Amino acid sequence: MGLNILLPYIFIFSLLSSFLSSFGCSNGSECKEVNLCGKCEQGFHCFDCLAGFTGSRCIRSTTTDQFKLLNNSLPFNKYAFLTTHNAFAINGEHSRTKVPRITFSNQEDSITQQLQNGVRALMLDTYDFEGDVWLCHSFGGKCFDYTAFEPAIDTLREIEAFLSSNPTEIVTLILEDYVKAAKGLTEVFTKAGLMKYWFPISRMPKQGQDWPLVSDMVAKNQRLIVFTSMRSKEQSEGIAYQWNYMVENQYGDGGMKAGNCTNRAESSALSVTKSLVLVNYFRSVPLKDLSCVDNSANLMKMLRTCHTAAGNRWANFVAVDYYKRSEGGGAFEALDMLNGQLLCGYDNVYACKRG
Ligand SMILES: *[C@@H]1O[C@H](CO)[C@@H](O)[C@H](O)[C@H]1NC(C)=O
Ligand SMILES: *[C@@H]1O[C@H](CO)[C@@H](O)[C@H](O)[C@H]1NC(C)=O
Ligand SMILES: *[C@@H]1O[C@H](CO)[C@@H](O)[C@H](O)[C@H]1NC(C)=O
Repeated sequence: MGLNILLPYIFIFSLLSSFLSSFGCSNGSECKEVNLCGKCEQGFHCFDCLAGFTGSRCIRSTTTDQFKLLNNSLPFNKYAFLTTHNAFAINGEHSRTKVPRITFSNQEDSITQQLQNGVRALMLDTYDFEGDVWLCHSFGGKCFDYTAFEPAIDTLREIEAFLSSNPTEIVTLILEDYVKAAKGLTEVFTKAGLMKYWFPISRMPKQGQDWPLVSDMVAKNQRLIVFTSMRSKEQSEGIAYQWNYMVENQYGDGGMKAGNCTNRAESSALSVTKSLVLVNYFRSVPLKDLSCVDNSANLMKMLRTCHTAAGNRWANFVAVDYYKRSEGGGAFEALDMLNGQLLCGYDNVYACKRG
């Protein structure tokens, strides 16, 4: 299209945007007309949570980068990270097989967007499929045409691109791993160019000691932590068996009962001092329209319940569905609370800044 054709549109658009800016939607304030809400502050987006409030509001959409706000000189286990459950199961992603996909989704933006918004841990389900490793939803450890999302290599390449352009950030992958192909994971991580960031298991504490300092992990460029749910891979491929290093509460509906935070079967009891604590807070079957309520006050309450259950230890990872949906601060505010508690004993990481 030539500029002369575009000009009237540019003119109308600029008129419209100066008109719209007078609405001035900002933090938590109402933005009555969803479509007119081009004006949420940076880090916020206009959203309506029918199950939680009427109308539309500007709500949080990015985390606080605790390393940038403060510093990265503490051990890795002294920080908390936003985690997307089934990060690959993205709403509306086109089918990569010959048949339409018939399964649920848990997120709604790309891996790259998730990382850019401050997600630092991704839960991925890996399967043998089509002679390769795929990300898939499934039953009984088998991936089908109609439940497959995409070849793992595509997602891993997005992660590589992020690590490469963000040289002080650390990404953790938590794999629900069904890959039986010998060295299948090693092969796909190598192909994606991720081995150069690999954090070795030899540096992971097993008895509840502190992890290396984040600044040291950055200096050594060991910025990718990978956990597998398959115990044997620690021996065969040097991939950390998740529950040697981490405790975790029950996932799904069982993990959403108010006041009850209990370990999932594979994990040691929460009070056992593995150095890392993961809190799951998502439904067994994701319900997009309710996730904004789930990710708000109830999530906060569960983090406090799990803090007590874990022997007064705050979560390092908080896993949710539809991570941007909330009634206001959502999972982002939960992370500010956790980092505040972990770093300086206050309920908000910004309080650490003031000292
Ligand atoms: C919006 O929220 C941020 C962080 O919570 C705060 O720093 C900023 O001053 C707020 N802006 C307004 C207009 O309230
Ligand atoms: C707490 O949750 C666990 C895990 O889902 C469950 O086994 C247990 O029965 C629950 N306890 C109570 C009191 O609800
Ligand atoms: C880094 O931040 C933490 C948490 O606020 C603080 O305790 C520590 O003293 C800081 N370290 C440096 C070197 O600034």
